Amino acid sequence: MPRVSFLHPAGKSGEVEANLTLLEAAKTLGFELNNDCGGNASCTTCRVEVQMGEDHLSEIDFDEQDLLDREALSEPWHRLGCQARILGDVVVRVPETKWVQPTSGSSEVGKSGAGLP
Ligand code: FES
Repeated sequence: MPRVSFLHPAGKSGEVEANLTLLEAAKTLGFELNNDCGGNASCTTCRVEVQMGEDHLSEIDFDEQDLLDREALSEPWHRLGCQARILGDVVVRVPETKWVQPTSGSSEVGKSGAGLP
């Protein structure tokens, strides 16, 4: 199973099922990204910055790229957490304003830090 690490601000990481979105993976690891549109690619509140493993995410599609372009977030490391599917190990940073309070705990959650960039 792919390993996903959310570096900031809480440092959650763990193995998740392949093909989950980053939004779904966050929930699996015990926290939520903001998702004002409910994961329908019509806001950018779920945006993350990919630190490592951009090739291990699904290809960006037209709608995602268009939305990021409109919000002037078209740098290649920006992805929408609700659209980017995890295909392999990936490390992302969650902008602090995109963080939501942790949900009920998950036994799969680990702390980041050791061995992470
Ligand atoms: S939750 Fe709105 S674009 Fe991802």
